[in-house]
Amino acid sequence: MHLGVCYYPEHWPESTWAEDAARMRATGLTWVRIGEFAWSRIEPEPGRYDWGWLDRAVDGLGAAGLRVVMGTPTATPPRWLVDALPDMLPVGRDGRRFEFGGRRHYDFAHAGYRDASARIAADLAERYGRHEAVGAWQIDNEYGCHDTVRQAGPATRAAWPGWLERRYGAIEALNDAWWTVFWSMEYGSFDEVPLPLHAIAEAAPGARLDYARFASDMVLEYHRRQVAEIRPRSPGRPITHNAMLYFGDLDAHALGRGLDAITWDNYPLGMLEQSPLPDDVKARFARTGHPDLIAFNHDLYRGALTPQAGEPFTPFWVMEQQPGQVNWAPTNPIPAPGAVRLWTHQAIAHGAEVVSYFRWRAAVGAQEQMHAGLLRHDRTPDQGLSEAAAAAADLSAAPVPHARRRGDVALLFRYDDLWAGQVQPHAEGWRDWAPWVTPYMALRALGLDVDVLPPDRDLSGYRVVIAPSLTLADDALAASLARALDGGATLLLGPRSGAYRPDMRVHERAPGPLATLSGVRVGRVDALRPGSGERIAVEPEFRSTLGEGLEYHTWADLLEPADGTEVWGRYACDAYEGVAALTLRRHGSGRCLTLGAWLAPEGWGRLAALLAAQAGIAVAQLPDGVRLSRSGGRACLQNFGTAPVTVDLTPFGGGRVRVEAVAAAWAELPD
Ligand code: GAL
Repeated sequence: MHLGVCYYPEHWPESTWAEDAARMRATGLTWVRIGEFAWSRIEPEPGRYDWGWLDRAVDGLGAAGLRVVMGTPTATPPRWLVDALPDMLPVGRDGRRFEFGGRRHYDFAHAGYRDASARIAADLAERYGRHEAVGAWQIDNEYGCHDTVRQAGPATRAAWPGWLERRYGAIEALNDAWWTVFWSMEYGSFDEVPLPLHAIAEAAPGARLDYARFASDMVLEYHRRQVAEIRPRSPGRPITHNAMLYFGDLDAHALGRGLDAITWDNYPLGMLEQSPLPDDVKARFARTGHPDLIAFNHDLYRGALTPQAGEPFTPFWVMEQQPGQVNWAPTNPIPAPGAVRLWTHQAIAHGAEVVSYFRWRAAVGAQEQMHAGLLRHDRTPDQGLSEAAAAAADLSAAPVPHARRRGDVALLFRYDDLWAGQVQPHAEGWRDWAPWVTPYMALRALGLDVDVLPPDRDLSGYRVVIAPSLTLADDALAASLARALDGGATLLLGPRSGAYRPDMRVHERAPGPLATLSGVRVGRVDALRPGSGERIAVEPEFRSTLGEGLEYHTWADLLEPADGTEVWGRYACDAYEGVAALTLRRHGSGRCLTLGAWLAPEGWGRLAALLAAQAGIAVAQLPDGVRLSRSGGRACLQNFGTAPVTVDLTPFGGGRVRVEAVAAAWAELPD
């Protein structure tokens, strides 16, 4: 378990570097990420390199006992490169061409820029790949920051027909998949197919879903060029990328293939301000962030890479940890005292191997001059420095085994399903991540550890598997879910599961290939207006656990149970009174529940508690704002509230543990 910091030696006089490095070490930091925006200083003119300063920076940091994460500087191509390749500048989906003067100003599909970025990555790896201070690599920086994954420039447009051809083989297959007979949209060749961005009516859903896939793939093609250059030149050093919070445009599961570790950038306060949580919740957590919003990203990225056989997870880090105020949210409060230390503990409790603060010293100019660092502008300590030092001391006093155990519950998530919801929400409230985050929050409030995984992962060993919405379904998906049931798991399929084929044509009868598992067919679907809700009346035998009724909003699949499927709840909505809403199908010792509607949080809480109880999984009712993570015989309680609390861990074999306001507390617990 280590702490680190992001550092920009090129911003500061060389005379201050040694002292900076010594202060980092004195704070208890052991990793330092550098380089990711420094192209104009590394190569000030085409082919003229100035390695001297970077050599001295790497040597100096290494001599101080720090390990370097070397970032490739390709998120910020210098002016001369843009002048040489003017058509590398990106064009947004609205057709607007972006200019030089910020960052991320490139088209992922541009062949010349792919070559240039692979070349600078190779140059850096040639020079530092075997340097003893260099311990890891970061490729580029936050793909997609500033909304740059989904583009429409000339290179992107040119790459689209070839991508379609690779996917479909023959144009007839595309016409069939997108059902282009509708509205005379038929194509005679791949070259005729435009990006589905500027049709007068919405473009075909299949086309839009494919565009989302294509845009993500363009990033991956670009990215893999750099990985291929670095890998042979830097043996044994993990290669990673710093992914973004709640960023769905790039498929992180696909990104993870070929990486050794995944990292993400954790900015709890900005994340809260940008979230769709209600205003009163935002006000309550304004200075700490919401624990579950943060933790969802930890659990998503921890599960993003396919682990080696026998290992539950591959390494994940927090590459950028908010150290104080940020500059980019609509409003940017100072974190509560203790929040930076708490976020650090929370990340480690979720299995992070390294937590690295962004940034060492506040910038004295340019776009991020209002963003805090561990040090203030004048190099005096800011809140972040003392809290990072405190976290380092905590962790060295009581090291935590970072190989986090497998969670109590698997929550299935795929980017394709997120994209399908964006393409065809059908109900205004069907918003981005909310279908996955709502049940996640309910599970976390019960003290359960949750692994957010794609459904093709090995699910054996999980007693409860929750699939909030596996919207696109084919036989392969049905087969992998059936394997989980074979092991005796309870699988819950949420609303819209099995609505579409992978090409986004509807299944003639949902849930398509999932029907054997679920034992239901979907009749009609209801989309509810924002702010309106209805109720599921629960069958008498479940009222002691689920209550009289479960409130729902946004969506309802009207279920038609097959013979032998048990009904646990029926809609109490005038428009379809008495139709099945919650059903169970048994398969040997495995069970498949189908939940047709999007439950409100309280309903999710009750349902999750019932499933856990039936599966013999212990739960607790944690106080609001308090969360628990368990691993390797330790429990970490995280209190995001403003008052101390005492939490009873007896359900998990522990005792009563007091945890101060805005703080974490660790306790021994049987594993
Ligand atoms: C991240 C980015 C950093 C910095 C930071 C500010 O998105 O990777 O370079 O801009 O935000 O919070």
